[in-house]
Amino acid sequence: MARGHCDKEPARRGDLNMARKQGDYRRIDHPIPPLYDENSKILILGSFPSVKSREAAFFYGHPQNRFWAVLAAVLSQDVPGTIEEKSDFLHRNHIAVWDVIGSCDIIGSSDSSIKNVEPNDISLILDRADIRQIYCNGAKSHEYFCRYQEKRSGRSAIRLPSTSPANAAYSLERLKDQWKQICGPLQVAGAGTGQVLLDWYDYNARILPWRSRPTPYHIWVSEIMLQQTRVEAVKAYYERWMEMLPDIGALASVPDQTLMKLWEGLGYYNRARNLKRAARILVDKYGGELPADPAALRELPGIGEYTSGAIASIAFGLPVPALDGNGLRIFSRLLALEEDIRKTGCRRKITEEIERILPRDRAGDFNQALMDLGSSVCLPNGQPLCDQCPWEAVCQARRQGRQEEFPRKQEKKKRRIDHLTVFFIETEKGIVLHKRPDQGLLSGLWELPNIPGELEPDRAQDWLVGQAGLGEDKAGDISLHSLGEAKHIFTHVEWRMKGYHVRLKELPERLLQEKKWVLVTAQELKNDYAVPSAFEKYKV
Ligand code: ADE
Repeated sequence: MARGHCDKEPARRGDLNMARKQGDYRRIDHPIPPLYDENSKILILGSFPSVKSREAAFFYGHPQNRFWAVLAAVLSQDVPGTIEEKSDFLHRNHIAVWDVIGSCDIIGSSDSSIKNVEPNDISLILDRADIRQIYCNGAKSHEYFCRYQEKRSGRSAIRLPSTSPANAAYSLERLKDQWKQICGPLQVAGAGTGQVLLDWYDYNARILPWRSRPTPYHIWVSEIMLQQTRVEAVKAYYERWMEMLPDIGALASVPDQTLMKLWEGLGYYNRARNLKRAARILVDKYGGELPADPAALRELPGIGEYTSGAIASIAFGLPVPALDGNGLRIFSRLLALEEDIRKTGCRRKITEEIERILPRDRAGDFNQALMDLGSSVCLPNGQPLCDQCPWEAVCQARRQGRQEEFPRKQEKKKRRIDHLTVFFIETEKGIVLHKRPDQGLLSGLWELPNIPGELEPDRAQDWLVGQAGLGEDKAGDISLHSLGEAKHIFTHVEWRMKGYHVRLKELPERLLQEKKWVLVTAQELKNDYAVPSAFEKYKV
């Protein structure tokens, strides 16, 4: 590496010798205060400001110094122009900047002329900010750091190639390649990270039915189905839905009973109701089309931050993030984030990070690549397949060998456990169903009659005969067979159930009214009545 100037105009050796002889030395005190704040995470030290920087009273003022261009490139941001922009840029990115020399005798801007050095006291910064790593811009600054600051501060510094014009042999590309290591302690993804994922996606994208024709309607329905539901489980539902309801108009006018039947077994039935409600709004307000605007999408029932981002990016090609659990997990590892990923602050940080590295022209692919990476490589529950990951080289958790410690999550509140006894009651006229209340869990859906508590067979029989009134004359003998135990997990509740197959001749008429029971045929149960999958085991 060229010795000599840092942020300095290249001086010719002859000129310098002449100047030395002519006694052009001046004693100069460092005229720029250190730039840092309590959130600074790295410190970049130069040697001493050039004439241009001294005149401007700000760091790296020579127009040919590549300091600003290199930092902007590795952080995927615009190059700051004015001093105010430069200062904002450093604060925003948590970078502290100063120089190792506090005063010295110097000729012009020449590093090699420097003598009688008084070092700066960098404890000023180290005592006030959690500096994770110190970097020196060029060999000279590193040499002075080792001589004056290393011992006193008890810290070591990494030497980076100088951005000075005197180091012109080092191309911008080579500088970027070395300087991108600052992304680690800053906990940000470096330039090019987005493209690396896209290159992986081009060979590893899953083939999924909604990806072959990604119209806004297709993406919308698939995304709603995929909320809390596995891709494999969704595929058949999606295909059947599109056969029955090929467009927004068809969805807006579908009978509720058919809608629920199409959704039967997928769970979270409000998703289907919201799809229909939103379709009606689209027909009334938007000519039966989805709007290409994330904010307008979020106004529709059932569409939140993630889904609006997915539709906007995948179907409309808009450069917006679509951050789901996969993205949170991947970025918590990529950046080794110690915060709880459920916290809004952590989510915000990851969203900003994605906005920064998102390839503008392939945002939809980038978002889907995150989903695929999360489902096949960066797996949950401490099982990531790091040796198959395109981001292995830039993943902070992997570098630290701590990939299994992320994502950080606080213990969730335990689910409430409800115990139930479920009856599949079959008479000569049909099977008994009950409509659930319009509020609460599985609201408004059909269910098999059930009561609180897991009753043993004789207690279950007592209930049927006594409280349910099935013991009346016309009912005939009741036969009761155990259907065993089952468990169903909802978000906040877990059901533990015992089930019984109950056979009797006829249901006393008054019970149908009193208990709000209905009798349906086996064919109707199969084709017309949506019964949640929690009861699946007991639908004989
Ligand atoms: N999970 C949620 N949305 C998805 C999508 N578009 N592709 C694959 N998995 C997903």
